[in-house]
Amino acid sequence: MGLWQLNPSSLRILIPRDTIAEKVRDMGHRLTTELLAEEDRLHRAGITPGPVVMVPVLTGAILFVADLVRAMPVTMSIKPVTVSSYPGAATSSQGATVQQGIPMDLKGKRIILVDDILDSGQTLGLLRRMIMAQNPQSLRLCVLLTKRDVKRVEEVPCEHSCFDIGNEFVVGYGLDYDGNYRNVPDIAVLTQPVQ
Ligand code: IMP
Ligand code: MG
Repeated sequence: MGLWQLNPSSLRILIPRDTIAEKVRDMGHRLTTELLAEEDRLHRAGITPGPVVMVPVLTGAILFVADLVRAMPVTMSIKPVTVSSYPGAATSSQGATVQQGIPMDLKGKRIILVDDILDSGQTLGLLRRMIMAQNPQSLRLCVLLTKRDVKRVEEVPCEHSCFDIGNEFVVGYGLDYDGNYRNVPDIAVLTQPVQ
């Protein structure tokens, strides 16, 4: 039923929606447990825990962060940043540019930077440096996907990743090709070459 029946042969499902939902819920719970443990540690050290701020990288992390935050019963704010690395129909990273300002009030806060995919590492590398320069109380990186076999332009430590995938170009659940397919509910590989 529905939209994707219009062109079913061009998308091959790699990770179905139910699997995504389960993994994202688990990730939300894991982050929550970590944040609570961190809070305990800080209290015991006589330090007041800073506010929790989710920083999703738009547009790709839009669906991921929406599901993730709903699995985190934690007081938090959400401050998105817009980065572009794939102008138009490019399928390999063109280097990251911040399109819309990174929040500048992150000092003393506990930040979770959320992106759709770790590929060359340029996006998360750049944002990580810009956030660290503000002296947050802590910073965690969380991605939906990690491209496992890619040679990174920048090594970025990212301990929170829902899925490892091979070196395929994927769309859906927020990920796009030339601005399209973000609303595909599953993570899929485009099987027909697109003009
Ligand atoms: P990096 O800076 O090369 O790590 O690229 C990360 C960004 O590139 C992600 O936030 C995505 O927007 C985009 N990207 C990388 N691989 C894919 C893919 O397979 N499909 C769609 N977008 C991708
Ligand atoms: Mg992106």
